[in-house]
Amino acid sequence: MEQEKKRVYTAIQPTNNLTIGNYAGTIRSWRALQSDYDCIFAVANMHALTVRQDPSVLRARTQSLVALYLACGVDPAQTIVYVQSHVPCHAELCWALNTVTYVGEMERMTQFKDKSAKHADNINMGLMDYPVLMAADILLYKADLVPVGEDQRQHLEIARDIAQRFNNLYSPTFTVPEGLFGKVGAKICDLQDPVKKMSKSCENPNSSVFLTDDKDTIMRKFKRAVTDSDSQVRYDPAAKPGVSNLLSIYSVFADKSIEESEKQFRGVGYGDFKLAVGEAVANRLAPIQSEQAKLLADKSYLDGVMKDGAERAQAIARKTLSKVYKKMGLYQI
Ligand code: TYM
Repeated sequence: MEQEKKRVYTAIQPTNNLTIGNYAGTIRSWRALQSDYDCIFAVANMHALTVRQDPSVLRARTQSLVALYLACGVDPAQTIVYVQSHVPCHAELCWALNTVTYVGEMERMTQFKDKSAKHADNINMGLMDYPVLMAADILLYKADLVPVGEDQRQHLEIARDIAQRFNNLYSPTFTVPEGLFGKVGAKICDLQDPVKKMSKSCENPNSSVFLTDDKDTIMRKFKRAVTDSDSQVRYDPAAKPGVSNLLSIYSVFADKSIEESEKQFRGVGYGDFKLAVGEAVANRLAPIQSEQAKLLADKSYLDGVMKDGAERAQAIARKTLSKVYKKMGLYQI
């Protein structure tokens, strides 16, 4: 009998414009994962509500993120692609898991502290509960592996803790998920401040390269990227964060190892090196952008993908939730 495939689950929030960090940290691995795993890729639009959103923009970004997934090689016939709010089990499991999660644990989350500082006028309950909803996402589908960037490591740890705690309190129910972090690209840094993570929400337009940027914009941003006063293209994140970040980006977008990339740029000046990085990024993004635009022109197709995905996701999620309710003593009819 064919052995059952392991399950991969991950999601992205439809907030701001996605960056090459999002691509490098997770999306780029999705196409290949589909042949070895049973994959589920979600659009985390309920997580997006934890910071203020313009409702019509959030709606448009949700659709455009689904189109991006498909444009990056996700095959909806094989893989489940769906929108979080279309599967009510997420909010329901989140509530159940809230009762086995401690306030102190949530207060210690780095992202909660960062976002609370950034949005001091809107430290809402959802922001604090964010990791529990993320745990619910993953645990509903009994995911074995979760491909994410480095910044999600702490959230994944808490999802594992919650799963283990529930299993011990009640009985084995949830699979304890493992993070899947790329050797290269799990933390792409800010082009202007290369010790900081590149972020969708950074205010300096030269800091992040967006997946929607055209070639001229991409080249301009890389030309302005911070390097150092040395002149060697060498991977050494502690001593040379700017150059090392550019090497990581090149390695991801040109599909070459760091060692190969270092070798290729031995003796090459920073100016030419930066141009090559920009070219590699622009060349990879161009076909994705045109495919995404094509898909966005066919809204009814995209709605169909979301509907089918939601039905398939809901069928899996409902089974898990029903087990959880039973174990917790919620009366079922
Ligand atoms: P989000 O939307 O902030 O980011 C989406 C993915 O991109 C990765 N990422 C990066 N990787 C490398 N370098 C960077 N500079 C960089 N910036 C972002 C993130 O690690 C992430 O993998 N909480 C999640 C969304 C989520 C989720 C889930 C993920 C909701 N439910 C369940 C996994 C499983 C988030 O905010 O990602």
